[in-house]
Amino acid sequence: MSETDFTQTDTDEPTPETDAAAESETTAGETDERVREEWREYEFAGEPKLSVEDLDVHYGDDHALKGVSMDIPEESVTALIGPSGCGKSTFLRCLNRMNDRIKAASIDGSVELGGEEIYQDGVDLVELRKRVGMVFQAPNPFPKSIRDNISYGPRKHGDLDTGLVARVLGRDDTDEERELVEQSLRQAALWDEVEDRLDDNALGLSGGQQQRLCIARCLAVGPEVILMDEPASALDPVATSKIEDLIEDLAEDYTVVVVTHSMQQAARISDQTAVFLTGGELVEYDDTDKIFENPESQRVEDYITGKFG
Ligand SMILES: Nc1ncnc2c1ncn2[C@@H]1O[C@H](COP(=O)(O)OP(=O)(O)OP(=O)(O)O)[C@@H](O)[C@H]1O
Ligand SMILES: [Mg+2]
Repeated sequence: MSETDFTQTDTDEPTPETDAAAESETTAGETDERVREEWREYEFAGEPKLSVEDLDVHYGDDHALKGVSMDIPEESVTALIGPSGCGKSTFLRCLNRMNDRIKAASIDGSVELGGEEIYQDGVDLVELRKRVGMVFQAPNPFPKSIRDNISYGPRKHGDLDTGLVARVLGRDDTDEERELVEQSLRQAALWDEVEDRLDDNALGLSGGQQQRLCIARCLAVGPEVILMDEPASALDPVATSKIEDLIEDLAEDYTVVVVTHSMQQAARISDQTAVFLTGGELVEYDDTDKIFENPESQRVEDYITGKFG
């Protein structure tokens, strides 16, 4: 239980409106309101793909995430929104233990992937990050050919071998590689644009193409969950719209969790939306329509209508 839990002292249940009216504003312009547990509980059919329980992250003395609990359904798009510095990237990085690489970060709480705790001794981090892939804000292809960008991960994991030794041993995966490259690029809606230039350097692609290549590279290792941190924020509107279409398609087979600063984007592409606000708290989590049309929290309403943040 976090210290921000709503504890009721009145006899009648106060409405969020009366709470908000009685409360002042913070320096950031947010209404000073207490978070209610029921605003953060999102009910859906089926087992969660990811189940986060009481997650706390500190960077030294900075408390970046406070007691976040959140279940994420599979084969859907979950959007994470909120003002800068509220902990969206931190939360996303906890889902595949990327924060382990940050020395100052200390993480408490539980994250289960398909019912298995990822924060326990003995978890193979390479395997975890294969199952839970990540796409970053700025496209970051390797300075290699388009083909090699795709096959790099499967080779590293030992799923593809086309080297001399493999050929001598009678195990040559050149055909498999060709298929995997085509399939991954098709899934990322990039194949038609690059099929004639697979051996060209990936850095010669446009920004939008590079980002789709990074998504293809992530798909090539066979993930179950794809984490995306503002994947379209460096792109123009046409490239952004391609990424958005792609995200919606991917949700048919994958669990997608996407951080975005664009409310319109969250509204367009996500099934459910989690709103984080200043102080690293999850304030409200519900169907995307509900969050954008009729949120429970006054702070969430103020944020999505542009009153602060
Ligand atoms: N590597 C780090 N070392 C120290 N503090 C960090 C680190 N990464 C993030 N923080 C701090 O943790 C808090 C949350 O940061 P985070 O990057 O998760 O926010 P965010 O919601 O993704 O913001 P933005 O929308 O600007 O990307 C901030 O106060 C930030 O300064
Ligand atoms: Mg961020």
